[in-house]
Amino acid sequence: MEMSFYFCCACCFLIFFSKAATAIDTISPSESLTDGMTLVSNEGAFVLGFFSPGSSKNRYLGIWFNNIPMQTVVWVANRINPINDSTGLLQIESSGRIVLQVQNTTAVWSTNTTAGAQNPVLQLLDSGNLVVREGSDSSPENYLWQSFDYPTDTILPGMKVGFDLRTGIDRRFLAWKNWDDPSPGDLTYGVDLEGSPEMVLWKGSEKYSLSGLWDGNGFSGAPYYRSNPIFEYDFVWNENEVYCIFSSRNQSVKLRNVLNQTQSQLQICTWNQENQTWQQFIDLPIDYCDTYGRCGPNANCDSNKLPTCQCLTGFKPKWPQKWSSSDYSGGCVHSKPLNCQQGDGFIRIANVNTPDTTNSWVNKTMNLKECRARCLGNCSCMAYTNLDVTGGGSGCVMWNGDLNNIKQLQMDGQDLYIRVSASQAGTDLHS
Ligand SMILES: *[C@@H]1O[C@H](CO)[C@@H](O)[C@H](O)[C@H]1NC(C)=O
Ligand SMILES: *[C@@H]1O[C@H](CO)[C@@H](O)[C@H](O)[C@H]1NC(C)=O
Ligand SMILES: *[C@@H]1O[C@H](CO)[C@@H](O)[C@H](O)[C@H]1NC(C)=O
Ligand SMILES: *[C@@H]1O[C@H](CO)[C@@H](O)[C@H](O)[C@H]1NC(C)=O
Ligand SMILES: *[C@@H]1O[C@H](CO)[C@@H](O)[C@H](O)[C@H]1NC(C)=O
Ligand SMILES: *[C@@H]1O[C@H](CO)[C@@H](O)[C@H](O)[C@H]1NC(C)=O
Ligand SMILES: *[C@@H]1O[C@H](CO)[C@@H](O)[C@H](O)[C@H]1NC(C)=O
Ligand SMILES: *[C@@H]1O[C@H](CO)[C@@H](O)[C@H](O)[C@H]1NC(C)=O
Repeated sequence: MEMSFYFCCACCFLIFFSKAATAIDTISPSESLTDGMTLVSNEGAFVLGFFSPGSSKNRYLGIWFNNIPMQTVVWVANRINPINDSTGLLQIESSGRIVLQVQNTTAVWSTNTTAGAQNPVLQLLDSGNLVVREGSDSSPENYLWQSFDYPTDTILPGMKVGFDLRTGIDRRFLAWKNWDDPSPGDLTYGVDLEGSPEMVLWKGSEKYSLSGLWDGNGFSGAPYYRSNPIFEYDFVWNENEVYCIFSSRNQSVKLRNVLNQTQSQLQICTWNQENQTWQQFIDLPIDYCDTYGRCGPNANCDSNKLPTCQCLTGFKPKWPQKWSSSDYSGGCVHSKPLNCQQGDGFIRIANVNTPDTTNSWVNKTMNLKECRARCLGNCSCMAYTNLDVTGGGSGCVMWNGDLNNIKQLQMDGQDLYIRVSASQAGTDLHS
């Protein structure tokens, strides 16, 4: 009894001291972090410190996973402004501004002063988020600054991808240029607000892969995201915010979602404890048809068919000769001309990824019947569908002009109603 009491106390001391010795997660304005020192989050999940990527000798301030033998960096402060020696020094000013300086003088990276800071501290959280907050206030909604708002190439569980419309913050993810250089490459990932919002992977200014609309359950173009054992995700779209957020289904599984410039991929990886490696769970784009605009306008990309590109029902190749020699760039045109004044109809195609939403229009409250009527009455409207498929369907999305980037799925896709000449509209379920 007595033995175990003393033993227990000794353990407590050990735990207390080992924790005190390793888990310093906060600095205040009187303190600083120099090259060689680190902050470790409270439960030990993440480390903040100086590092050199790959074979580079440059020094960067960054955050990486703790207790993973291959250093895996998830955030970089001075990604475009490397430090060439070991004089890097991180401080938080009493104004709440974070400053990273070299040789005691030159700032290579800093944040903006935050209004009304009194006793700010800088803290590394177990989520991997580096935050500036009032010393006495740890509520997330009152953070004065957070690295999650200024991401680099890695999405961690709990990070928002997308917009805060109140502050104008666009949390867009930018790949590292290469393994040795964390400065931005041209592969980026974020929310496109044009039309109805969706997730976009861009290569430079060109769309490279699209998620499709959020249909209430998931993205119409990403059925493989829906039910998987690894992660869950949600999409929030209201007057204040438009973002996608991931969370891990199993808190003890380390998860990261990273842009890979050399592969032009968004890779979802989990840490394999047994084999001590990152295992790629899903890569985007996931197949041939997942890459933007494979088949040109008004065509359906179906990776289970040959040829992969098929004109939509009621359409024919714009340039038949090129089409038959696998040049799909011209896409397809209506095989029977429309006659808007006399009345057109709609053909339903099932289980597709919704077209590029750039030229779309949305009403969240209209039902499908109202949606059809609105589309029919507007000669430039070429397709419509429900915005939300849950609970019998609600909301209305309409597309103007060409329909781009439609992809045939095997399951969990969306229904799309496509405008055709009245004489072709045999399967119009809503006339
Ligand atoms: C290192 O960077 C500093 C400015 O940050 C510059 O003044 C100095 O010349 C650089 N040294 C070398 C060896 O490039
Ligand atoms: C940096 O500046 C601080 C005070 O401003 C001073 O105490 C320290 O000696 C300086 N360090 C170097 C390396 O110049
Ligand atoms: C600081 O403020 C300027 C001007 O408002 C803004 O352009 C810049 O992005 C801000 N920087 C950071 C790191 O928030
Ligand atoms: C969570 O992951 C850990 C480590 O891989 C595993 O041992 C555990 O069984 C998982 N728990 C659940 C509920 O799947
Ligand atoms: C990019 O992907 C390739 C292939 O999956 C992988 O070998 C490489 O390590 C990845 N690069 C980075 C920086 O993660
Ligand atoms: C670890 O790697 C071995 C050999 O590649 C493989 O057979 C095994 O399934 C892996 N373990 C896990 C947990 O993935
Ligand atoms: C959306 O549709 C509803 C119901 O038809 C209508 O009352 C509302 O004005 C529409 N909103 C817009 C922005 O068109
Ligand atoms: C048809 O839709 C387009 C695009 O939304 C819009 O600019 C135009 O005003 C609409 N026309 C009518 C008559 O509603």
